[in-house]
Amino acid sequence: MQTYQVPRADLEVSRIGYGCMNLGGSWDHAPLTGAEKTRAAKVVATACEQGITLFDHADIYTHGKSEMVFGEVLRQDPGLREKIVVQSKCGILFEDQPRSGAPGRYDFSYEHILRSVEGSLSRLGTDRLDILLLHRPDPLVEPEEVARAFGELHRRGWVRFFGVSNHTPAQIELLQKYVDRPLVINQIEINLLHSHVINEGIIANQEGGSYTAAAGTLDYCRSQGILIQAWSPVAVGKLIAPSDQEDERVRDAAARVRKLAQEKATSPEAIALAWLLRHPAPIQPIIGTTNPERVVASCLADGITLSREEWYSLFVAARGAPVP
Ligand SMILES: NC(=O)c1ccc[n+]([C@@H]2O[C@H](COP(=O)([O-])OP(=O)(O)OC[C@H]3O[C@@H](n4cnc5c(N)ncnc54)[C@H](OP(=O)(O)O)[C@@H]3O)[C@@H](O)[C@H]2O)c1
Repeated sequence: MQTYQVPRADLEVSRIGYGCMNLGGSWDHAPLTGAEKTRAAKVVATACEQGITLFDHADIYTHGKSEMVFGEVLRQDPGLREKIVVQSKCGILFEDQPRSGAPGRYDFSYEHILRSVEGSLSRLGTDRLDILLLHRPDPLVEPEEVARAFGELHRRGWVRFFGVSNHTPAQIELLQKYVDRPLVINQIEINLLHSHVINEGIIANQEGGSYTAAAGTLDYCRSQGILIQAWSPVAVGKLIAPSDQEDERVRDAAARVRKLAQEKATSPEAIALAWLLRHPAPIQPIIGTTNPERVVASCLADGITLSREEWYSLFVAARGAPVP
């Protein structure tokens, strides 16, 4: 697997990352089962065999069970921790936390950030996170407070590098004005069916075109040296095996992906991911399948470079209209 050097960080990561959101079973507080532990061990082992070195977590995934089951995998293979990059996120609280009646919300307070990282470290059974991301922008953010929290986390050796997720250029700039360490990652949703951050640059000045609030995110991150990570890179399977209920645009895009996969004697997963890898930003897809065979099928993307024509043929099919 080829790698990216994370700009402004002493960190090398595989071009494709593995997202652990779907490990640990269902989103409840039931104890981890043996089957979930076995499943996590198998898929993580396959990801490692394929050359994946970046593992993405969040404090909230399966209510902490995802980090817990990953911690179990690390305990079973003591050499593994030093070979991989462990990333987690904080800042989301579900409703009824910590007491009944509390709304779902975001919390970038100093106390919450520190408490969250302490919980992640304990569940993962590690002494440090390589990367911590703020999960979703908090409208009540006090950037000075985030700066204080990040400073303390770094001073304690709990977190090496920092970044954000689902943030706009303006939100990143506000944070970066106060945070003295570079924000090195922005993890956002990008796939062929959800390509607003790519499409907006094309339709900006068109009749009926519009800017999203995330306008310029890709170019901004690229110019600032912030590595873009793409979550849901195969649109939760819709690009690979769309159900009959999906609309025509989705089925057309999936058909185009399948056809190109046949022509290139590879998997549809590889084509959908190669489309992201072809972007020069660059983009690091974070795959979320828990199926080892799909992990292998996905990693074939590393050996494929789409031509400009191939890239555009997928893009045009997925946007449902030719480029202007
Ligand atoms: N920052 C954020 O706000 C945010 C939000 C969402 C996710 N994420 C991160 O991004 C990672 C990936 O997200 P994702 O799980 O939505 O990504 P994805 O790779 O697009 O989708 C994987 C999901 O699709 C399912 N799927 C069904 N059919 C499939 C097929 N034929 N091929 C591949 N997958 C198929 C998988 O099920 P099987 O397991 O059965 O294969 C799995 O549940 C997460 O694990 C998490 O780390 C971040």
